[in-house]
Amino acid sequence: MKPALLIQDLKKTYHNGVTALHGINLAVQEGDFFALLGPNGAGKSTTIGIVSSIVNKTSGLIKIHDYHLDHQTEKAKALLGVMPQEYNLNIFQKVTQTLLNQASYYGVSRSVALAYSEELLERLGLYDKRNSLVRMLSGGMKRRLMIARALIHRPRILILDEPTAGVDVELRQVLWGFFRELNQQGTTIILTTHYLEEAEMLCRNVAIINKGQIIRDASMDSLLKELEFNTLILDLEQPLDAVPKLSYSAALQSPTQLVVEVARYQSLNALFQELLAADIKVMSVANAQNRLERLFLHLTGDHS
Ligand SMILES: Nc1ncnc2c1ncn2[C@@H]1O[C@H](COP(=O)(O)OP(=O)(O)OP(=O)(O)O)[C@@H](O)[C@H]1O
Ligand SMILES: [Mg+2]
Repeated sequence: MKPALLIQDLKKTYHNGVTALHGINLAVQEGDFFALLGPNGAGKSTTIGIVSSIVNKTSGLIKIHDYHLDHQTEKAKALLGVMPQEYNLNIFQKVTQTLLNQASYYGVSRSVALAYSEELLERLGLYDKRNSLVRMLSGGMKRRLMIARALIHRPRILILDEPTAGVDVELRQVLWGFFRELNQQGTTIILTTHYLEEAEMLCRNVAIINKGQIIRDASMDSLLKELEFNTLILDLEQPLDAVPKLSYSAALQSPTQLVVEVARYQSLNALFQELLAADIKVMSVANAQNRLERLFLHLTGDHS
């Protein structure tokens, strides 16, 4: 099967010397619902910026369906709809005009664009605002308008950079339903998110990026299986300079907070014996709650 989006050995070093991408590889299949997960600064937006031709790459290859982004740029871009992380709307424009202008970049006729813009605005709960200035919209409304704008030329691939950041719970449900519907109709969707729950609800496949490198590229199901362990946060009596040598995956959250992963089958007694042997006194123990944090720890923590 030919991927809808192919990224090969993509590297990016910004002018200030920061290397955001160290040569990443990704293939997203047509019709997939794909999550790109990673902590702040991992390189998600840089990747999306390069794919959407907003950021220049340092090296690497990108193909969108059959088209090379470098050589067949217009054809490649026509297949892509992108909702960036940052607001980049013209706030002095009216809502409908925002969509019509975008459509005209892609050569969509005004009448076709007008009909579809009404459908999209209706679907995204913005129809009442169609004649308002963008400036008058709330943050959540602007986000929805950016989603409509990404879709106005009916792209085959939709890329959403944190589509539900700062969106309330009710609206998040509405957007999830909408994305699912688009995907069922055949649109390939790639999204970035900080919410593992969001990726879990929507996505079939997931890549995890950390410090400019893909550290996991798997099905959502298989990734979630890796979460079958407990993460304990231990408050220590004495601060530590380094992670002690243990037969568990561990990391220091602060000098007096040690985070340790314990598989379901491992005994806690054994852990405490090891800590005792290393002369580490534990004041209290808590269970880490955030599953995404646990997952990142699991994938990036020091494994001894
Ligand atoms: N225009 C820029 N100039 C210099 N460095 C940049 C620029 N944009 C991003 N970076 C750096 O590149 C790295 C990756 O940033 P990027 O925005 O891609 O991360 P991200 O995964 O999208 O993070 P977040 O979850 O916070 O949105 C970071 O170290 C960031 O500081
Ligand atoms: Mg980002």
